[in-house]
Amino acid sequence: MLYYCMRAPARQAEQGVIALINRIGILTSGGDSPGMNAAVVSVARCANALGIQLMGIKRGYNGLLGLSENPEDDIAALDLETVLDIADQRGTFLRTARCDEFRKPEVQRQCADNLRKLGIDALVVIGGDGSFNGAMHLCELGIPCVGIPGTIDNDLGYTERTLGFDTAVNVCVEAVRSIRATSRSHDRPAVVQVMGRNAGDIAMKTAMATGAEMVVVPEMDWDVDVLAARLNGLIAKGNTRATLVIGEHCWHKMKEFDWRKFLNDNGKTVYPGEPINAERLASILKRKCGMIEARATVIGYTQRGAQPTAEDSAFAFEAGHLAVQLLNRGITNQAIGIRHGRVFNMPFADALLMKKHFDRETYELINSL
Ligand code: ADP
Ligand code: F6P
Repeated sequence: MLYYCMRAPARQAEQGVIALINRIGILTSGGDSPGMNAAVVSVARCANALGIQLMGIKRGYNGLLGLSENPEDDIAALDLETVLDIADQRGTFLRTARCDEFRKPEVQRQCADNLRKLGIDALVVIGGDGSFNGAMHLCELGIPCVGIPGTIDNDLGYTERTLGFDTAVNVCVEAVRSIRATSRSHDRPAVVQVMGRNAGDIAMKTAMATGAEMVVVPEMDWDVDVLAARLNGLIAKGNTRATLVIGEHCWHKMKEFDWRKFLNDNGKTVYPGEPINAERLASILKRKCGMIEARATVIGYTQRGAQPTAEDSAFAFEAGHLAVQLLNRGITNQAIGIRHGRVFNMPFADALLMKKHFDRETYELINSL
């Protein structure tokens, strides 16, 4: 679908750069991820260069519902001056949210109508697979959309990297290096839990980069007794400060084991209904391996609220530029990704169908060296 120029500035027209659309909306959705602001800045700079107006939509798809008393709390013009000031801020200036209402077709129709009423010709959605699904629905309703994969999880099969992943890994690596220093000082093993939802990418890369001796991820079945045997083997060889990195959603892949009874029988009270977690796993390993202590650390939101690395900032720059170029050329329904270090685009539907490859060989290497 092509959009015809109504007010491209004379300077750009002279240079042969003509804006085919007038007004773009942009939103961030799902969990925040480092680099989202940098992507907004990039979109704003490119839009500005083409004479396209940019509208910031607040709190993900919530901003399209038009529920706030003050409309500016939902959608407001983003001028370049304001946007340049957010380049160095952490988190997402536009705010983000999860909006369950938006899953309903009638709500999506209402949102598409709201966009049309506001004269917004096209939308840039920065988020993960859920947010891309939402964008696909808007495309079906006639709103041209492109997506920038903003999530620390790196859980999208079509792209080598998602925006924020590199920063999250660097935060985890820094944390694990510090934890390993204290582990060494005290001869204590450590369990470190990282984020990633159903993808073990942050856990795997962190383990590789820090020399962690063990890793557990949501993609692979695992067994506490195998981990304990591995830890015992390391202790027997003199390594009393090994690190186990775990991906937060690994628990459903744990081989069945009455860990509550084990802990209760071994001097640590656990009440029925209490869940397994990193701290309890450290307690189990400590008891199974006869260690004096084993400690757990959950890294949490430091992964999401960090300053983006150069890799993520550069990805945001390229992705933002491509997003505006695509929309301005009338190319819609596209997910932007990175392959061999360069940005590219492909249809949302194809991108979301691509299965993620899990690197089993490296997983086995980490757990065996
Ligand atoms: P992410 O985008 O990081 O995967 P979520 O899965 O939480 O995060 O999705 C973010 C938002 O995208 C949801 O709160 C919802 O507004 C929208 N969304 C997710 N899945 C769909 C879907 N199938 N259809 C429409 N909108 C969706
Ligand atoms: O998608 C990013 C992420 O941080 C996941 O790694 C994690 O499972 C989830 O979001 C947690 O979301 P929240 O704490 O915002 O509910």
